[in-house]
Amino acid sequence: MKALEFVNLAKKFGDFTAFKNMNFSVEKGEIHALLGENGAGKSTLMNTLFGLYTPTSGHIKISDQEVKINSPLDAFRLKIGMVHQHFMLIPTMTVIQNILLGSERMNVFGAIDYKADRSKLEELSATYNLNINLDQKIEDISVGMQQRVEILKILFKDANILIFDEPTAVLTPQEIKDFEKILFRLKADQKSILLITHKLKEIKNVADRCTIIRKGEYIETVDVKSTTELELASKMVGRSVDFHLEKTPVLSTENIFEIRNLKVKDKKGLCKLNDLSLELKKGEIYGLAGVDGNGQRELAEAIYGLTPIEGGHIFLNGFELTNITPEKTHQNKISMIPEDRHKTGLVLDYSLEENFILHDRRQLPFSKKGLLQFKAIKEHAKKLIARFDIRPTDETQLAQNLSGGNQQKIILAREIEHTPELLIAVQPTRGLDVGAIEVVHKELLKLKAQGKTVLLISFELDEILALSDRIGIIFNGSISKSLTGPDFDRKLIGLYMTGQMKT
Ligand SMILES: Nc1ncnc2c1ncn2[C@@H]1O[C@H](COP(=O)(O)OP(=O)(O)OP(=O)(O)O)[C@@H](O)[C@H]1O
Ligand SMILES: [Mg+2]
Repeated sequence: MKALEFVNLAKKFGDFTAFKNMNFSVEKGEIHALLGENGAGKSTLMNTLFGLYTPTSGHIKISDQEVKINSPLDAFRLKIGMVHQHFMLIPTMTVIQNILLGSERMNVFGAIDYKADRSKLEELSATYNLNINLDQKIEDISVGMQQRVEILKILFKDANILIFDEPTAVLTPQEIKDFEKILFRLKADQKSILLITHKLKEIKNVADRCTIIRKGEYIETVDVKSTTELELASKMVGRSVDFHLEKTPVLSTENIFEIRNLKVKDKKGLCKLNDLSLELKKGEIYGLAGVDGNGQRELAEAIYGLTPIEGGHIFLNGFELTNITPEKTHQNKISMIPEDRHKTGLVLDYSLEENFILHDRRQLPFSKKGLLQFKAIKEHAKKLIARFDIRPTDETQLAQNLSGGNQQKIILAREIEHTPELLIAVQPTRGLDVGAIEVVHKELLKLKAQGKTVLLISFELDEILALSDRIGIIFNGSISKSLTGPDFDRKLIGLYMTGQMKT
């Protein structure tokens, strides 16, 4: 039975068509994937279903009835719930406070009565194996757990149609497995699920059907079982794609970057890096594998000068760079693609032009005698937009109006264009479509061919295996094992990652 149908649905922003001719339906008890390149219009389509945008033409049917969804309140009334690409929880409040926000009941004394809803929440959490502690503060729980809170929040409102916008982009491999189990449980309960994801493997694992959108246009809906990953990818980009990467040998034996006995503590005084030592060669890609929370974040931040170093030393080309500012790090030709693009990568209400020169705006050729050189800035922006295929191509638009994947490309372009001696790439392809991932991987290999060094930190083991010349496993704040490629034993890496093997 059809739970939902899009009929000729279209949305324009001014002259720009975000999507058009959307004609497909979602069944009850179906997991329906949405696949499309960065900027294809997936989030906008789902935001329209959730009542955040009004369609320009066409309509939506729920259980065969035409409906108007003018706000998220309408959506909730129609039992539609959404977990957004960037979560919407208040960090300083507890889980239960977040879930009941705005719908709190009062007791006879006029105080908020959480008891009334607590048992329903506990029951839902148990039914769907969410394992949520209702009294923890959001800021104290993992991203995976925060996502479950978002899920609980919409289940609490009895949603039957659940929209997930790139839910696994922020999860670790273990969390993804748990999330998939939750999806299957929801499906068994006859919920309809719309799932945006760039991961083809995931579509094969969980989805029944997949709708493909290209540049705002509906292409087709395919049966997932009878379609291969490569077919999905080619349909999505409209050309054949090549997953194969040519790994070239490392030419130099010279160590260019060195970390000696690094010690870093977090805000609570807990030891996060514990005597970590590491040497990187000129022209190599060194992959850092590990389970989230073993010090990856702290290592990247310590090198870049974003977190204080308690002990140890960092050298680039023999020069000590311990505890210097991010500005100095940048001047010393170290670049970073940060983990959180909104917090540290971009200024969302700056234009693309401005974001591209964020670090270099006071230097030639962008500034002369204290005056900004607008022509040079514009040319620089146009060049990067073309090279990294950033869409749409207008360099004066604000970063916040770009799709998630295109925002990521802005950062990549800026940091790679800096021709760093060392690039720290933290989750560089998070949220990118397969075509864009291909572009980024080739750019990283190009840097390597130019004799530059890349420290690749990623939770995607496939990505680490495909690109790395050596792999280090980080466990409990230090490198527990270093392996030399080009071929690696995936199982062995897994054992080191989980601490089952130590030396
Ligand atoms: N409020 C807005 N004003 C103008 N243009 C917008 C607005 N919101 C989105 N767009 C444009 O609509 C297009 C579709 O964006 P959308 O976020 O839906 O892409 P997406 O398919 O979700 O991509 P990604 O995989 O990168 O998340 C993009 O070109 C984006 O720049
Ligand atoms: Mg999106």
